[in-house]
Amino acid sequence: MTSEMREIVEGLSQSQKTISPKYFYDERGSRLFDKITELPEYYLTDAELEIMQANVDEMAELIGETASLIEFGSGSSLKTRVLLENLDELAAYVPVDISEEHLYASALKLRSEFPGLDVRPVVADFTKTFSLPMPAIMPVKNVVYFPGSTIGNFEHGVAMDLLRVMYEEAGEGGALLIGVDLQKDPEVIDRAYNDSAGVTAEFNLNMLRHLNKSYGANFDLDSFEHSAIYDEDEGRVVIELISQAEQTVEVGDTEIELEDGETILTEYSHKYTLKGFAEMAREAGFNVERVWTDADRLFSVQYCVRT
Ligand code: AVJ
Repeated sequence: MTSEMREIVEGLSQSQKTISPKYFYDERGSRLFDKITELPEYYLTDAELEIMQANVDEMAELIGETASLIEFGSGSSLKTRVLLENLDELAAYVPVDISEEHLYASALKLRSEFPGLDVRPVVADFTKTFSLPMPAIMPVKNVVYFPGSTIGNFEHGVAMDLLRVMYEEAGEGGALLIGVDLQKDPEVIDRAYNDSAGVTAEFNLNMLRHLNKSYGANFDLDSFEHSAIYDEDEGRVVIELISQAEQTVEVGDTEIELEDGETILTEYSHKYTLKGFAEMAREAGFNVERVWTDADRLFSVQYCVRT
């Protein structure tokens, strides 16, 4: 049994059955996520891109010359390109991702698009500290970039740990540029995770297909339904798969029993208030220096400096 299989079985053995959102992203899952970002209901990507395009000059000024930009993630997004196009004096661009294949493919593309840029990919699990490469030019400071409100996937304690890793990687005089989704009209959030074309449902169910294909499971995809409910008190969307019958599923040699109506938690998507995020940042050693939002105040990009 691989360590991933052990992790999956462990999650499915808890009283609240859980599978980590990282298992969404096989090839089909990544394609479905790209489709989500193009949905009219999924406001996050458009709002964040709007913020980047409208404020990149000011961002470039805050980041300054000869900084090293360290992206937590593979750097294949349009938002990253907006930033790279407007930061012409970077010492290096360092995308950090656990998926070597995706990371190197994206790094190759960026090198050909930005011939003057020193692209130094790092294969690492960014939930733990990792060592940074030594670029040809000594960076004046490190700026960690974490777009997409991926921080929202993590429960408070884990999100704090991650912010502390970013604090370490930013180093003295360093900063963090982070995309943070905001609390808003619950109906707007609800629609974003229950789209009318059913792409999010397909994305959620695809996790079971991925487990069947790569981790020796035998989920019957027709016996599960997508659910995404915004819990306003907790400020988070709870995304689950609901078992439509009493059933037994195998993961390798382990049998997992599910009751009719029992849920498997696949993802949290936390939404923040500006005050709430500023408190988390402060606790991790950052001061929020500048906040940009889109015209409808749906999403924010925040520049945080190490105190
Ligand atoms: C990639 C974690 C930011 O929480 O909105 C989209 C993932 N899940 N639709 C999010 C997701 C369902 C997304 N993040």
